[in-house]
Amino acid sequence: MKYGYFDDAAREYVITRPDTPQPWFNYIRNEDWCGLISNTGGGTSFHKDPKYRRFLRYRYNNVPADRPGRYVYLRDEETGDFWSATWAPVEKPLAKFRYECRVGLNYQVVTSEYAGIETEVVYFVSPDHDVELWRFTARNLSGRARKLRAWCYAELNVWGAMRDLVNMDNNPRCTRVEWKDNTLIHSTWNDTGGSLGTQNWVRVYGYVTSSEKPAGYDTDRDMFLGAYRSEANPVVVETGIPNNHCRNGGLPVAAICHDLKLAPGKSKTIVYQMGVADDPREFRKCIPVYRKLAKVDAAFEKVKRSWDARLGKLQAKTPDADFDTVFNTWAPYQAVTTGYLSRSICSWKWGASVGLGFRDTSQDVMGCVHTASDLARLRLSQLLAVQYADGTAAHGFVPDTPEVSDRDFYDDHLWLVLSAANYVKETGDLSLLTDKVKFLDEKPAAGYEHLSRALDATMRLTGKHGLPKIGCADWNDGLVNPGDHNNESVFDAVLFCAACREFVALAEFLGKKADAVKYRRSYETMKARVNKHAWDGGWYRRVWHRKRGWMGAKGLKFGSIFVEPQPWAVLSGVADGKRGVTALDSVWRLLGTEYGIRLHGRPFEDYDPEVGAISIVLPGTKENGSVFHHPNPWVICAEAALGRGEKAMELLRRISPATKNRIAETHQVEPYVFCQWTGLPPFKHVGRGANPWLTGTASWVMVAMSQYILGLKPDYAGLRIDPCVPKSWNEFEVTRVFRGATFHISVRNPKGVEKGVACVTLDGRALEGNLVPAQRKGTSHEVEVTMG
Ligand code: NOJ
Repeated sequence: MKYGYFDDAAREYVITRPDTPQPWFNYIRNEDWCGLISNTGGGTSFHKDPKYRRFLRYRYNNVPADRPGRYVYLRDEETGDFWSATWAPVEKPLAKFRYECRVGLNYQVVTSEYAGIETEVVYFVSPDHDVELWRFTARNLSGRARKLRAWCYAELNVWGAMRDLVNMDNNPRCTRVEWKDNTLIHSTWNDTGGSLGTQNWVRVYGYVTSSEKPAGYDTDRDMFLGAYRSEANPVVVETGIPNNHCRNGGLPVAAICHDLKLAPGKSKTIVYQMGVADDPREFRKCIPVYRKLAKVDAAFEKVKRSWDARLGKLQAKTPDADFDTVFNTWAPYQAVTTGYLSRSICSWKWGASVGLGFRDTSQDVMGCVHTASDLARLRLSQLLAVQYADGTAAHGFVPDTPEVSDRDFYDDHLWLVLSAANYVKETGDLSLLTDKVKFLDEKPAAGYEHLSRALDATMRLTGKHGLPKIGCADWNDGLVNPGDHNNESVFDAVLFCAACREFVALAEFLGKKADAVKYRRSYETMKARVNKHAWDGGWYRRVWHRKRGWMGAKGLKFGSIFVEPQPWAVLSGVADGKRGVTALDSVWRLLGTEYGIRLHGRPFEDYDPEVGAISIVLPGTKENGSVFHHPNPWVICAEAALGRGEKAMELLRRISPATKNRIAETHQVEPYVFCQWTGLPPFKHVGRGANPWLTGTASWVMVAMSQYILGLKPDYAGLRIDPCVPKSWNEFEVTRVFRGATFHISVRNPKGVEKGVACVTLDGRALEGNLVPAQRKGTSHEVEVTMG
């Protein structure tokens, strides 16, 4: 069964039926406003912070799964029949209901036709104000005059995501609503203090209004829906009579009613708008603006154009159409989204825990630094600010608040070194290294000093083999050994080596010779330890467990090989001689599946207290031996580093959204983005994807595709070109904006090699080597590359 297709020219995924295997989500957003929206209008919105400033309510764990949301109801005033423009929640029979949902970049357009009335709802957020807009149009296709009523409908949250969920005693007694100038204003007090003892009451204001004079309104959920009913059959829509009731208390909704009298062929547009502010006077600025259709349309165009500009910085035309679909639109879109949201709020995360993860954010910015360098800079500064003076870091943080979560996940600080170096190479902006940022527990120090302390921390925190202690956990959150932080992580060791190598290059670039010498020595020391203690014959082991010995070693009943250290042993240069190839061959042989690479050999059957959280999840799911997607692009990068372009592309194909679109019924989740994991035996749903959208996979796929397959690697002095492609790729083209200059790069591969560059010319001049020097901002250049 197919549910949709990619419309590459429009940069949209088109969902052709509303009953997708699960609700499929998208994000509508600007810098500060964010909405999660499903293909049938379900979802939630928040302003700045999903934990404390949640505007639209959403019931996670609901049945159906995506309720409530942003609905527009219609009622035929002659027959009394009613339906909803996004199919749900009324859900008219599909035989009578035409539907299409265009999933766009930060917008969503749902078109439908029922009973001779075509409707379109365009959902997006203004790029200029923190205002969510639903541009609703009804057109009469029936050939006779029609009299209709329409309602927008949204449930309002009482700001605090957790408070809204758990405090049913207090919440309905506190809600304050007002109907004035055809606008609903909701201003319930919200506690941002976290506990009874630390209450901090803040008044937040939200509004909902429309562009046309209403026929009536409802503000109370129970009165609008009616007893023993749901969003599927609100009593007000069934009877067609609004209550025009507005009193404090209860559960607030915004249900604004309009009359639509449509002559044959005629249409009517109503724009619903909503926003949040600390001072309601702010609303007066926006309301008149977005009551004007021309302004709404201009704002929508701006959303589209901003994505064209952003994605235009890196576009490719290759012999593989699937590659282009993912590379040119969906992977960068997802990577920017993860850069904004980390793992905070999606269909499987409530947005109520500690904001952004340290390791996640560090990696997320790597995939969007070329498209969103300001965001990357902001995130990197925030990361530096939640590092401790000893070099380690807080595992999570809520931007702009003092809120941080636990520490001692000993991979966290290492990612920062990699992403900071990546940022400087991409942008040439050294301020990240020279600006002083305060440690969480000490005076400010330059960014460069923060990075060196991160490396020093790992060198200091080592165990009996001299390998890094794992702390609470390394990248694999599931591999925790409760109570013992002293197990040693081979993964952290190879990650350290990668970070160290990066730092040596940075120190050399900055002329800091003593540091280059010091960290080269650290690199060699750690590399030797890994090769001495952790090589298992066919692959690198995973963890030295103080009670169980080596995990990820040959002959173990469970978890005999883990993927994570293998690609990083290659990428860090730790894997000497043939070890890299041997390790990756073992990965394919022992962990390769049609859905990608399994995280580790034979999953754990049941809870094993010494192994920890990995064993509580069902075998074949999540960290317990599913295809956990995030390390898959690491393998792609490592394959490309070894020059095996066929293998790199084959793995990309297995995990690609374009592939998932062909098996959407099995895969179930949104096929236009990567999800976190795919189920494998013995899990009963083999091939089913889970946890879409907010996964580190997106960012790493961007890195793998751009830097390793297409081989355009930012370096301190320019762009290094070293593609690794399938033999059949005889040519491809890339447009790459690098530090403000545009490079049109044509690559020819006359000998059908997988890797190797024979010559590079810049504007017709042959270069020595494969480094294209950075050029002046605003200039445009032709680069010709011949592989061979
Ligand atoms: C998801 C977490 O957000 C990420 O930090 C972690 O690395 C992976 N799960 C693997 O456990």
